Amino acid sequence: PTEHTLAVIKPDSTQEHKDTIMNKIKEAGFCISQVKETKLTREMAEEFYKDHKGKDFFNNLVDYMSQGPSIMMILSKENAIAEWREMMGPADPEQAMQVKPDSLRAQFAKSILENAVHGSSNVQHAMDNIKFIFGDIPS
Ligand code: CMP
Repeated sequence: PTEHTLAVIKPDSTQEHKDTIMNKIKEAGFCISQVKETKLTREMAEEFYKDHKGKDFFNNLVDYMSQGPSIMMILSKENAIAEWREMMGPADPEQAMQVKPDSLRAQFAKSILENAVHGSSNVQHAMDNIKFIFGDIPS
């Protein structure tokens, strides 16, 4: 069965690596079912990352994610959620370079905060993330 996930190219990587990352996504066999370039407001970034509210990096995360436009994509493929997370690599680029040097974060992340890309972590988050960014999608 086809699975859907939300993938985000974060603002700094949208400026610097948008085409490279989108080409790699297509080469990996994902279908980009929907795509839009959107600048999150601070309020939207706070809502998107509400699970991280209270963490010491929350304000920096909200600043980072609202600093400019991001590329928002619905990726569709069998096992899309896990495969996109695999392609991103670990959140921390130091670790990504150790365990998955060909991952997007190993190649493009600047730090654990400015880590280039986002992907939903499970089916529930994928549905919530997609609905938040794209609204109700007919299935
Ligand atoms: P993401 O996968 O989008 O989900 C939460 C984000 O918070 C993460 O990518 C990073 O951008 C950021 N983040 C996670 N852990 C840390 C941390 N320890 N320090 C700073 N930022 C972090």
